[in-house]
Amino acid sequence: MVIILAKVIVVYESKYGNTKLAAEKIIEGMNEVGGIEAVLSELKEVDLNKIANYDAILIGSPNHFGGPTRGIKKFIDKLGKLPLEGKMFAVFDTYIRGDFEKAMKKMEKRINEKVLGLKRLAPGLSIKAQGMKGPLVEGELPKCKEFGNKIATQIEI
Ligand SMILES: Cc1cc2nc3c(=O)[nH]c(=O)nc-3n(C[C@H](O)[C@H](O)[C@H](O)COP(=O)(O)O)c2cc1C
Repeated sequence: MVIILAKVIVVYESKYGNTKLAAEKIIEGMNEVGGIEAVLSELKEVDLNKIANYDAILIGSPNHFGGPTRGIKKFIDKLGKLPLEGKMFAVFDTYIRGDFEKAMKKMEKRINEKVLGLKRLAPGLSIKAQGMKGPLVEGELPKCKEFGNKIATQIEI
């Protein structure tokens, strides 16, 4: 029997580890459901030439000044030049204070504008940190796992 796994890459930027931890928990959530081969990659290590090999791209960014990091914005712009028609995406952010969903929404908007043909797998996730350097607010980690569960369930190849 041949089992075909959906290939997912989770690309993130993380200065203090909050967004990295969220990304790891999302992958745990995907693995709970199964059927997914997930790869975690820090933005600076991403090989753009290999992105089109994945069925879905998840992008995580800390909120920096009300939006995603400059690096993540540039990354999204570069995705727009790749053959990603019919592939899927989802985004997540981490934030402090009252900036719930701000970076996440801006990433979704930018992807919709710049990366034509990429389909949203699920509405984005926004995870609160207690302070700039974390830790994440208690109760937020299960949300990451649930998000991973949802991604793994929604993905279709
Ligand atoms: C340069 C900088 C700017 C930030 N600006 C905001 C902001 O405008 N709103 C917000 O909610 N959090 C802001 N933060 C907090 C980060 O979003 C938060 O600490 C995040 O969880 C860090 O994630 P990381 O550990 O993955 O880098 C800022 C952090 C940095 C370093």
